[in-house]
Amino acid sequence: MKTLEEVADYVANTHLIELDKTRLNPVFGVGNPNADLLVIGEAPGADEDKKGEPFVGRAGQLLTQILGAIGFERADVYIANILKSRPPGNRDPLPEEVKAHIPILHKQIALIQPKLILCVGRTSGTSLLGMDSSLKDMRGVFHDYHGIPVLVTYHPAALLRNSNWKRPTWEDVQLLRSKYDELTA
Ligand code: URA
Ligand code: URA
Repeated sequence: MKTLEEVADYVANTHLIELDKTRLNPVFGVGNPNADLLVIGEAPGADEDKKGEPFVGRAGQLLTQILGAIGFERADVYIANILKSRPPGNRDPLPEEVKAHIPILHKQIALIQPKLILCVGRTSGTSLLGMDSSLKDMRGVFHDYHGIPVLVTYHPAALLRNSNWKRPTWEDVQLLRSKYDELTA
C-alpha cells in the first residue's frame, strides 16, 4: 500500500477485530497528507463513528481550539487515532485491539512522514511509544518515535473533566509550537 487512500480503503474493507463489525463508520484520519504535525488521539467516540472523522465531538472542538491557539488550522495538520473503530460505550481500548490496529497508524506515519507528533491522552502515548507510564510522567518532554520527536499531553476530554490540567496542556502545546518552528524553519 503506497498511498493513504489505499490504506484507508483497506481499513474500510477489512475486519481485524470485533469493533470493525460494530462500528457505523471507520475513522481513518483527516487532514494534510503531507503534514509536518501529526496529532494522535485514542479512538472514535459516538460523533466520530457517525461522521467517519476524528475529533468532531465536544472533545474534538476543544482540540481544534487548542490547535488554533498555537496557530494551526485542522487542515494544516493530520489527525488520526490509535483505534480506527469505536469501542462501544467509549470504554478504553483493549490491548489486543490496540495490537491489531496500531500497524495501520505505523503505516500512516510512514506515508505522512511528519516532523513532529502530538499524542493526546495516556493511551495514545503509551500505545505509540510502547511504554507503560502515567500521563504525568510522559508529558512535558519529547520522546522519540523512529527519529520523530513525540510530545504527549492531556486528552481534551480529560480537560473537559478537570480544568487543573489546562495549564500543563498549555505549556506542552507551546513547547510543541517552538519545536515545530525550529524543525520547519
Ligand atoms: N477522542 C479521541 O481520542 N479521538 C477522537 O477521534 C474523538 C475523541
Ligand atoms: N490521565 C490520563 O490517562 N489521560 C489524560 O489525558 C489525563 C489524565
